[in-house]
Order: sequence, then structure tokens, then C-alpha cells
Amino acid sequence: MKISSSNQFNKRDHSDLLVIPFWKTKQGINLAASLKVDTLSIQSVIESGDFKAKEGDLVFVYPEKGKEKRIALLGLGEEEKITVEKLRRSYAFLIKACRQRKLKKIALIVPKNKALGEEEIARGISEGLFLINYHYLLLKNDSIKEDPPLLVETVTFIGLGKKGLAVVDKVATICDSVYFARDLVNGNADEITPQYLAEIAKELTKQFKTIKTTVFDKKRIEKEKMGLLLAVNRGSSHDPVFIIMEYKGNPRSKDHTILVGKGITYDTGGLNLKASSMEYMKGDMAGAATVFGIIRAAATLKLKVNVTVVVASTDNSICSVSYKPGDVYRSFLGKTVEIGNTDAEGRLILADALAYAVKNLHPTRLIDFATLTGAMEIALGPEASGLMSNDDTLANALLESSQTTFERAWRLPLIEEYRDLLKSDIADIRNIGGRSAGSITAGIFLQEFIGKTPWAHFDIASTAFSSEIKRYLPKYGTGVGIRLMIDYLEKLI
Ligand code: BES
Ligand code: ZN
Ligand code: ZN
Repeated sequence: MKISSSNQFNKRDHSDLLVIPFWKTKQGINLAASLKVDTLSIQSVIESGDFKAKEGDLVFVYPEKGKEKRIALLGLGEEEKITVEKLRRSYAFLIKACRQRKLKKIALIVPKNKALGEEEIARGISEGLFLINYHYLLLKNDSIKEDPPLLVETVTFIGLGKKGLAVVDKVATICDSVYFARDLVNGNADEITPQYLAEIAKELTKQFKTIKTTVFDKKRIEKEKMGLLLAVNRGSSHDPVFIIMEYKGNPRSKDHTILVGKGITYDTGGLNLKASSMEYMKGDMAGAATVFGIIRAAATLKLKVNVTVVVASTDNSICSVSYKPGDVYRSFLGKTVEIGNTDAEGRLILADALAYAVKNLHPTRLIDFATLTGAMEIALGPEASGLMSNDDTLANALLESSQTTFERAWRLPLIEEYRDLLKSDIADIRNIGGRSAGSITAGIFLQEFIGKTPWAHFDIASTAFSSEIKRYLPKYGTGVGIRLMIDYLEKLI
């Protein structure tokens, strides 16, 4: 989407649609503009009283003359109650209406508000615009020719200052990496293989001189004795990969955030074959896509922080040499793990990745993203990711960023007593507990591999894909976690 700006209402360019925002008041409605707007052509609508300017109210008007063929009146609700999130939702709703009407070029009169300030207003509007203005078409062929879907191509902000425009630019950059992550999640599993993820990581190095990528092939993974990653990979015809990407935005500082992503490119469940919902499992590398998206956005924004991304990747498939329930494997850390269920594979590859990061990469803090447990859908549903952490300061800062970005997360406790659920008679630990506290026992399993390093774990199993278009989220891959982490990293500076 191209962005432009104009400071005077009368000097705006031609576009397909002009959008005028309104507040709802006790008496009726108020123009929400920061500059003088000629409302003559919509006077009859205003006077009719039909448009109440409630949140989500949207009326199209077709004036007989004037610069634009269409004008939209957009309701923002009561001025005192406006929030960044309400702006996201209202402007995403507007963009959806534009896309239905195939409008390519729109002009927005920017609302003014005392409580929110120009930058917050710009953030809310532009996040709503960019996050919804996305579609994944690579797998369509005929249907695209019949009815080509459309994205809004140009948005002109009328009456937005320099600071506001800088925010819009930044949001555009971040959302570009959100799209990048969504594309990876939405791609066919047989295309988005471990080798493909490694290629993507190497390409990012070419694009950004500040990112250094190292890829371990199977031989190196064997040499490093990453027994759990190798166990999960046994049934696959693709080799596993272990990817390390380093971005040094502040070389003089020792502060170092390591982000670990689950990169299961397809999860059949293994010999404990999944009985349902397998069609979502091409997205089981969403954790990897998220951390790729974060480092890509951080490098584009030239954030003055040091971030390393670690991704362990394989698919979880079946063949006669697949890893088997009942068998025991030795992890990179040395602890042995009894396999209770081959479908609990994510925690296995993450355990090796986390332990490797702690031993060799000197993290100040470790944060992992993983579509780890179906139990998240039961515990929190699609509106919030699960957050688990051994460090209150880290968890609270992440929760704050979660609120700022409205990528909702809710902290679950790592209840010590539940460690007993993972006891094994034959090995140091078992990879499953029981039905009870399924997401937490997965977190407790991971905790066994990170020592005392401040660590946080996001279980994004219920938030990484959406089953429907919702507010500013598209169907399928959502790219959740990127906006949250960029907000967090910016606050580290
Ligand atoms: N990838 C799944 C978790 C998942 C489920 C993600 C649904 C997205 C949607 C994970 O590997 C898995 O299968 N977990 C098992 C763990 C169980 C065997 C302890 C689960 O949640 O059922
Ligand atoms: Zn699984
Ligand atoms: Zn999985």
C-alpha cells in the first residue's frame, strides 16, 4: 500500500473515496477533523439523523459533483472513549468495505483527539489499514481470473503531521514482516520444508547486511548430539535443519535477546497419528515464521538491540524408522526423554534449541514462540496466546507490550507440583503429562532445558491461525507476536 499525505483539504488529489470521520455526541454527531472540511455535499445525510456515528457506522454517499465520486462517513463512537484498538477495528472495517467495492485509492481525513494524540491516532488507523489489507493468492488459479480480488493500493492522509506520518511508515514496515510470516504459514507444507526455511534465512542475510545466518545440516546436528530433533526427524524424508540468525543492532552492548521458534513444517502426529484437525498442521512452523518476522522487522527498522533467532525445523511424519512411543532419546542437554506420545514433538525440538542457545549463545533472556498445545484452544480460545515464564519482570514487560499492541496474551502459572506429571520410570523425563493442565505441563517440560536464564514461552497454538476473517485479522496465518515483540524490543532501548 502506498502512502501519501496532504495538509490541506482543498488541495487533495483525486481518489476513489474520501473518508470523513465523526464522533457521536449526546446531541448528534460532530466532525472529527483537525482541519477545515467542506461538508456541503453530505449535509442531507447529516441532517437526516440516520447516521449516528456509532463505532462501526459506515455510510456511503454519492455526491453529484466534487472531487470524489464517493464519500464515506465513518463513525468512531464517543470522543472521550476512543482507543487505539477502536481505531484499528474501525479502519479495518472501512478497508474491508473498500475491498468489496474494489476501491483502490482512498483519502482519509485524520481525526483529531485530545486524549490520544497524533502518534497514537496514526498507529491505530494505520495498523487497522495494513493488517487487513492482505490476501494469500499463490494457491489460486481459475477463481482469481473470474473475480480478481483487490487490495487498497493508495491511502492519502489528509491533515497528518510529520510525527504521525513517521508512525505510519514504521507500522508499514512492521506489517510487511507480518505479511512475510503469514505467507510462510499459509504456504503448502511440501513447499515450506526445513530446507526452504533455511534458504529464507540465508536470503535475509543477503537482504540485510546486519543479519548473519548459520545453518546446521543433519551431519552437524548429529555432531552436536541434538538427539530430540533427530528423533522427531526420523520418520521424515527431509533432513532436519538448525538455523541461527544473528542481528547486532547494538554491538557495544552485551544485552542479547534470543528468540526460539518451533519449525515443524508439518505435524501428522507421527505414529500417534492425529485423529483430527490435521489440515491446520502446515502451520505448525508458525513459531519459526514469527521469529523470522521479528528479526526481519528489527533489521528493517535498524533497532538498536541485539537479537538472535534460533529455529529447529523438521516435519513430524511416519515411516518404519519413525521415533516410537515407549522409546527413550537423549537430548542435547544430556537429559533422557521417554516418548509418551509422538504428537508432543514441538517441545522435543524446542528443548534442544533452548538448551543449545543457553550453552552456546549467551542470552540475556530467551523467548520462544510455538504452536505447542491444542489445549490452548480450550484454556484461552482464539483471542489470547498463553504466556509462561520463570521471570516476573520479563513476563510483565511482555504483557505490557501485549496490551499496547492488542496481541492479547495471558500468563499461565508454571505450577511446580505438576512436574510430577512428567515423571518417567525409565528416563529423566517423559514428554507428556496427561489431560490435566496440558499447556502448562508443556511449559514445565521446556523449563527443564533452560537452567536459570530468564525465559518466556508463548504458546500460539490458538492464535497463529484464524478460522475466519476477524476485525483486522485475515483467515489462516495471522502473524501474531511480531508487533508485540517489536514493541518489547523498542522498550529495551
Ligand atoms: N502442533 C500441535 C499443537 C496444535 C494443535 C497446534 C492444534 C495448533 C492447533 C502439537 O504438536 C501437538 O500435537 N500437541 C499435542 C500434545 C499432546 C499429545 C500432549 C496436543 O496438543 O494434542
Ligand atoms: Zn504434535
Ligand atoms: Zn506440533
